[in-house]
Amino acid sequence: MVDIEASKPIELVGDDFHADPHKYYDRWRAQGPVHHVQFPGGIPSWVIIGHVEGRAALADHRLRKNSTDLYHLFERKSARILTDATTQALASHMLNSDPPEHTRLRKMVNKSFAPRRMAALRPRIEEITAGLLDEMSVHDEVDLMQAFANPLPVTVICELLGVPFAERDDFQAWTRVLVSSGEALETRSAATVGMSEYLRKLVAAKQAQPGDDLLSGLIHTTADGDRLDEQELVAMAFLLLVAGHETTVNLIANGTYALLRNRSQWQALRADPAGVPAAIEEFLRYDGPVGWATVRFTDEAIRVGEIDIPAGELVYIALAAANRDPARYDSGDHLDITANASGHVAFGHGIHFCVGAPLARLEAEIAFTALLHRFPDLDLADQAFTPHWQNSLLIRGMADLPVRPRG
Ligand code: HEM
Repeated sequence: MVDIEASKPIELVGDDFHADPHKYYDRWRAQGPVHHVQFPGGIPSWVIIGHVEGRAALADHRLRKNSTDLYHLFERKSARILTDATTQALASHMLNSDPPEHTRLRKMVNKSFAPRRMAALRPRIEEITAGLLDEMSVHDEVDLMQAFANPLPVTVICELLGVPFAERDDFQAWTRVLVSSGEALETRSAATVGMSEYLRKLVAAKQAQPGDDLLSGLIHTTADGDRLDEQELVAMAFLLLVAGHETTVNLIANGTYALLRNRSQWQALRADPAGVPAAIEEFLRYDGPVGWATVRFTDEAIRVGEIDIPAGELVYIALAAANRDPARYDSGDHLDITANASGHVAFGHGIHFCVGAPLARLEAEIAFTALLHRFPDLDLADQAFTPHWQNSLLIRGMADLPVRPRG
């Protein structure tokens, strides 16, 4: 364990951290799987680095997530975060709730992501993919982020939720601010208000005139006579929109970048596209789209590994670090699409396991299969390219990825 006074505070921001966060995680790992640290501007917290410990923590019901208690904890410890009513209302969604509320909210959307529903989406996702790759093919050089990795999942989530694609610029700009680590509180506050008002209007429009989409379905369908109230609908729409926007984009982009940096694995996958689903699990393990960690707090004292964590403490489970724990994965810091990446926590674990995972996996499978088939010689536009990683702790994503479709 790293003692809070003795441990050098680690700034989890800035280009150096984002260029190679694992350099920092490895430093922690060398001293044990669980750490007590003080982040600059934050409050004393616990960080779980180990895979076994992280997975156990994600499934531990004594580690809670509800936003009301979490905000009180932040306020009590004088952390600099937004705790105003609009922020709290938007954040009071399923990912920030505990049973029984969580169970109830999750039940409302679970069936929307069931295998049969996902299979029905396949032809449309393939069509969108083919259209984007057609557009890419007329260029010698193109930003894969703008041309493909971003518009594919964004179009799909907009169509699924029934959010007008034409309005994406607004909510993408707000989302970017909300997942960023570097923005001033005033900027975050403005984005929160903008997003909240937009979603309220959207929900009201669907209440007045329902469409054939997931949000309209949530307004009008009741599970066991239950119904979401307006506030719950807005928070649900917020969660699905943000989660559906900023994650799969980076699975496609980070995975492509990792493959292009490991050219022989690109070639192997091109020769045997049946390996795509397994490769996607390895992309998730190696450089998944969720930033460094997910947060919980202790409802009562718990023991993680050999460490006692008192009640009322913040606990970060470092997903990216757990996924490269050499005690669990031989490939550790290397990409190996033939390795067994099962058990990774890129989608979380336990009751909050990503409800959108079947959609993300489907989109990624279609995207990589089509990309390899259509552009077998795809390559980085410049072999010296160094990604500019977003300054975000929630999202692990590049600003751009210039490629040459025909090599
Ligand atoms: C939860 C990752 C795509 C919706 C989660 C969690 C992770 C995650 C790590 C759990 C967080 C925690 O325990 O604190 C990812 C990754 C994705 C992805 C890596 C893409 C590669 C999506 C998509 C959607 C979605 C496409 C929706 C359209 C959700 C929701 C939850 C969630 C609603 C909350 C589940 C709950 O609280 O029970 N995701 N996600 N995700 N994700 Fe995803």
